[in-house]
Amino acid sequence: MNLRHESAVGHVTGRAVYTDEQHEPTGLLSLYPVQAPHAHARIVAMDATAALALPGVIRVLTAADIPGENDTGPILHDEPLIPRDVVLFHGQAVAWVVATSERIAQQAARAVKVEYEPLPPVLDIETAIAQSSFHLPPAVVARGDAAAAMDLAPHRLSGELHIGGQDHFYLETQASWAHVDSEGLVQVTSSTQHPTETQIIVARVLGLPSNRVVCKSLRMGGGFGGKETQANPYAAVAALAAFRTGKPVRIKLGRSADMQLTGKRHPFLARYEVGFDDDGLLKALIVTLYANGGWSADLSPPVLMRAMVHVDNAYYTPHVHITGLIARTHLASNTAFRGFGGPQGMLVGEEILDRVARYRQLPPETVRERNLYRPDETPARNDTPYGQPVVDNHLPQLWAQLRRDSHFDQRRRQIDEFNRSHAHVRRGLAITPVKFGISFNKTEYNQAGALVHIYADGSVQLNHGGTEMGQGLHTKMLAVASRALGVRVDTIQIMVTSTDKVPNTSATAASSGSDLNGQAVKAACETLLERLAPVAATMLGTTPDDVVFSEDHARRQSDASVAVPFSEVTRAAYSARVSLSATGYYRTPVIHWDPKRGHGHPFYYYAFGAAVSEVEVCGFTGVYTLRQVDLLHDVGDSLAETIDRGQIEGGFVQGMGWLTCEELRWSAAGKLLTDAPSTYKIPTIGEVPREFHVTLFKRSRTPTTQVIFGSKGVGEPPLMLAISVREALRDAVAAFGDARAVPLASPATPEAVADAIAAVRTPDPAHSSPEAPVPAGAASGS
Ligand code: MTE
Ligand code: MOS
Repeated sequence: MNLRHESAVGHVTGRAVYTDEQHEPTGLLSLYPVQAPHAHARIVAMDATAALALPGVIRVLTAADIPGENDTGPILHDEPLIPRDVVLFHGQAVAWVVATSERIAQQAARAVKVEYEPLPPVLDIETAIAQSSFHLPPAVVARGDAAAAMDLAPHRLSGELHIGGQDHFYLETQASWAHVDSEGLVQVTSSTQHPTETQIIVARVLGLPSNRVVCKSLRMGGGFGGKETQANPYAAVAALAAFRTGKPVRIKLGRSADMQLTGKRHPFLARYEVGFDDDGLLKALIVTLYANGGWSADLSPPVLMRAMVHVDNAYYTPHVHITGLIARTHLASNTAFRGFGGPQGMLVGEEILDRVARYRQLPPETVRERNLYRPDETPARNDTPYGQPVVDNHLPQLWAQLRRDSHFDQRRRQIDEFNRSHAHVRRGLAITPVKFGISFNKTEYNQAGALVHIYADGSVQLNHGGTEMGQGLHTKMLAVASRALGVRVDTIQIMVTSTDKVPNTSATAASSGSDLNGQAVKAACETLLERLAPVAATMLGTTPDDVVFSEDHARRQSDASVAVPFSEVTRAAYSARVSLSATGYYRTPVIHWDPKRGHGHPFYYYAFGAAVSEVEVCGFTGVYTLRQVDLLHDVGDSLAETIDRGQIEGGFVQGMGWLTCEELRWSAAGKLLTDAPSTYKIPTIGEVPREFHVTLFKRSRTPTTQVIFGSKGVGEPPLMLAISVREALRDAVAAFGDARAVPLASPATPEAVADAIAAVRTPDPAHSSPEAPVPAGAASGS
């Protein structure tokens, strides 16, 4: 189907309403945080007298105001909503001012006097390692005997890679508003990807059962994982303020406050050892991944696990040992971000592949291709280290198609030619694959519900448990309901996501929003048609199993010209006292996962893609341009093609931002220095390549899995196609020298590229000698 995003016109005309723009209730109050000026400190004393004396100030909320549990942790209960005695990151809110306007609240926040006793902070991963500052014991994913296989491997290399984090930079910052209704129910509207968890956390903080809290999510101006858990504290503080004042209260964070307070994509440090043969075939891999978790655990354990099970990316290694640790540091608590650790894991894998290739003086694309998981070979080279085969693996075919259609080999020759004739400008080309597991690693999240009402006039209301953040989930759910019921999309009204319509929902995340909710919507629609079929059969003078619903009519299957309008069937059904409302429910089959052993079948299926990028790099400055990008991505049978293309383009550009221009920096005291668009560079239209070709892959084999109308999750995987940009930059850098290793920091900013050029021009002899480690750039300030 080629549907337009259901809010496309609203988005471009500004008519689409977001959480903080809803019609203001009378007496709406605002919140503003009192932020700590230390990354780690003891709170010695607090005095709000001066603030409370200001006109318009209603209250200053502290930990003492919390009636329930002072905790918003989604997995561990290690996350006080308002700290009582210790500050754990720079800018942490130690109190919240409630006032009649945001401006007054902000002024009053400055008047709250807090006395601190500063303590030494731990900010980066190395310091955390030195002090054994970790959130949890190590996690392990392993197969075979990696140490023994390493000893036997013909060649070995070791190294380390620092990977920078990334701010979500959703256009709409964190926003919530809450009021206590006339029945005493706490009504929360939040820009949240996970209304059920927001409901649970609000209930926990207020000491209420879940049925006393309703959470709605209207639409988000972007979430990107940043509102999977991190909307919860702001919803909770708004609810707390409403609970304490009896008035509606709104919170919306300014851009800088949002960047200071909320967690980001985790910076990582990887240390690895790889064993391989003359052809560059991988034999053994030993990796330790350290994620910079920040002050609380948040979602770090599953993010780290997803990183660990994506180090392999698309490549088979017989013997693997991966260890993962979460550094406990005094930074904002790092969280989900598009790919959920997968991108960091895959970047490590691709770094290793490049090291192996250059060390063997083989083209990186050759070594990548040789190591791909292959379903058709004996002995099998298609099993992941965590025990699941790469189901429906058509990556080798996709790879070959992209390599051919992008004219890779011809362009490689042209680039070699260009580089021979240009001393100060060099071009680079790279092709990289993506294999990304779809399903939540946490098995219980792989379920969804829907609630569909048909009114007697034949019009339909559609509720499902997923949230809309711009990714087009609502549009896809309209497409599913329209197909399942056989009615036009414009007869269906999509409703605001609300926990009182569909309960116990999962986060809209892990790219599985349409897989899970789509199946639930379809199930509800099928229940309704089962009830309508006998009614229609009577009207059509046939049997229920001869009735089909299509194009707003019920028809005889045996003779499609015998038809009655859908609205007449629904009216007759109402008269005949047939229920026109149904729930739908779905849980993903097959999957299972043992987090303790790091083993199981966690993903129902995989998303596949590949990318070719071509860059040009200036040898004096490291400044580069992206000349051309060719993406080939597998979305299965698309539910809405324009939306899927938008997800592929947007995901790629966001990944490119992470890997090239978005650089987080903190001061030595742990203050985030890059907390505004002036200091934190996100990619804009200017960075999007002129030649940007996106092709949807047409698979030749029918998949073995039952996915909603044959479609595949597309939200996250394309982000990792951007790894091709980093590898193309590395390829161009390599052309400035003849080093057998090209250390490149991540993000590969122009400065980092200039450093890398300097390094390959005067290669450290140690890098070219066998079995020597190469530290790949001390990256961003983490
Ligand atoms: N696209 C837009 N426009 N805005 C977003 O916030 N979030 C991404 C992706 N695409 C996001 C987006 C993330 S992190 C995920 S997990 C998926 O959308 C979630 O939606 P889905 O499961 O419906 O694909
Ligand atoms: Mo996406 S990081 O799973 O919200």
